[in-house]
Amino acid sequence: MRKKVLIGNWKMNNTLAETNNFILKIPEICSLAQKKDVLVGIAPSYLSLELLVNNKDTMKVYAQEVSKHNFGAFTGDISIPMIKDFKIDGSLVGHSERRAYHLENDKDCNIKIKELLKEGLTPIYCIGETLKEFKANKVNEVISKQLEEGLKDVSISDIDNVIIAYEPVWSIGTGENASCEIAEKVCSFIRSILEKLYSKEVAEKVYILYGGSVKPNNIHAYLLEKDVDGALVGGASLKADSFLALLENI
Ligand code: PGA
Repeated sequence: MRKKVLIGNWKMNNTLAETNNFILKIPEICSLAQKKDVLVGIAPSYLSLELLVNNKDTMKVYAQEVSKHNFGAFTGDISIPMIKDFKIDGSLVGHSERRAYHLENDKDCNIKIKELLKEGLTPIYCIGETLKEFKANKVNEVISKQLEEGLKDVSISDIDNVIIAYEPVWSIGTGENASCEIAEKVCSFIRSILEKLYSKEVAEKVYILYGGSVKPNNIHAYLLEKDVDGALVGGASLKADSFLALLENI
């Protein structure tokens, strides 16, 4: 039986002072999460990671990005062994902002996903179509390609350690939510691809999240959908009170 999942992606937000404010409410967040049996996590900036890891209680803490190289002359990058040293639980992989501004592609994502799994860490693989692709009815085509290339050679014994986040690019930070019907249609399509690539039993175990303008007032409806196991939330996850409100509405 899959739990419900709430993961905050802070992007390039929250200074140390703001992170410290959030931390004050982590015990409250974790006790509510336990009561509701929800897996909660945060992907802060690198500079807030240590603070969160040291105060995380039962919360998961993820990086927003990792290098596909383990070490070397890659100025500004952070490697998977480095995040493992910090007792971080995993990392986002292939967020659309990384794909758009840093030209990450599905092959890069595939390397990172396999390396994270090898180290026992959780990849949160972000996929989704642009507005142009959505309007051209290419959603299934885009999603299949992202899944097939991103998960290439990920073994059947590892796939249920991967979290998939469906984030239509046109709904991220825009207030233009995908409807619950769209979210369910695509998340169920993702599960059908996983079934094709692995097996029905395995596909039923994988967490699939929706992301894109999720707020306290709309999270409940998404999570009623059969194949939407949770939400990856940007803006509404930055402040502890808003994070708590998201959790309360699950
Ligand atoms: P948003 O971001 O909730 O601010 O739309 C979601 C994401 O990018 O993960």
